[in-house]
Amino acid sequence: IKEEALAKIHDCISLKDLNDLRVFYLGKKGPMQAAMKSMKNMNQEERATFGQVSNKVKQEITQAIENKKVALEEAEMNAKLASENIDITLPSTALPLGSLHPLSVVKNDIEELFLGMGYQIAEGPEVESDHFNFELMNLPKGHPARDMQDTFYIDENTLMRTHTSPVQAHAMIAAEGKGPIKVICPGKTYRRDDDDATHSHQFMQCEGLVIDKNITMADLKGTLEVFAKKMFGEKRKIRLRPSYFPFTEPSVEVDISCHNCEGKGCPMCKHTGWIEILGAGMVNPRVLEMCGFDPEVYQGFAFGIGLERVAMLKYNIDNIRDFYNNDLRFLNQFGRKG
Ligand code: PHE
Repeated sequence: IKEEALAKIHDCISLKDLNDLRVFYLGKKGPMQAAMKSMKNMNQEERATFGQVSNKVKQEITQAIENKKVALEEAEMNAKLASENIDITLPSTALPLGSLHPLSVVKNDIEELFLGMGYQIAEGPEVESDHFNFELMNLPKGHPARDMQDTFYIDENTLMRTHTSPVQAHAMIAAEGKGPIKVICPGKTYRRDDDDATHSHQFMQCEGLVIDKNITMADLKGTLEVFAKKMFGEKRKIRLRPSYFPFTEPSVEVDISCHNCEGKGCPMCKHTGWIEILGAGMVNPRVLEMCGFDPEVYQGFAFGIGLERVAMLKYNIDNIRDFYNNDLRFLNQFGRKG
């Protein structure tokens, strides 16, 4: 019995077969049990020897099964590992990565710059009330400057915001008359323009607002100078020209010295050496008042940057529509991978 069992255990190749063998040889109906039955016809001496021998056989079979079980389990694990083996030294297939949109690059750069100067980033709704977009910005109904901002109206009192200035009104009202406020408001804006190389009915602005005690035009100029140098190179100079916006008084148009020709004259600066880049000014006292600030105590400056314009100048792009056509040949040139 022993020889036969050990041979079968040796040849066994699966854990299930091994279990069957265990049940057969060590179970109640197996050959060992049958052999034990014959013990009742033996004398005492024979019985003792037989008992010893058969116990030993049982032990050997149990041990053999145990050893085989360990060996089979190990083999099974090895087979599994082999089948799941991954060669980590093989080169992987490169996933095609997109790149940041040029407007996102410019927006991120501007945000980073102003965050570094202690500003917060404010956001507001693109669908605005006439009250926030116009009234609080000192553009009452019938004001001729409303024409400057040809508007998509949703109904009489609701519109697609024509600039990000209403976000500043929200920020001022939320501050309940207490300064300081230092925010920039980047976001999408809408005007009823016929799209061409320099006009888009949807575009992006980033406006900035600072309100505190003792704020002067010099603070505005210093801030914009930092902006110009950071975006267009350390050699940039800025120049302020008088202008008009209803929400600022005085208002200025800001030019930077041309980064393309270093002031020598080129088509980008129309051979003047200067490029118009943004509008700005001291917050009109009427706007301060309407938004809950005492103009006797607080002053502020504001500026409005067109992100497309900055990106077009920075990357020498001559068609604003390129930003919105999603042509990968265009977009892939702005290498910074997302
Ligand atoms: N809101 C102005 C515009 O969209 C830009 C601007 C903002 C000008 C702040 C001056 C001060 O045209």
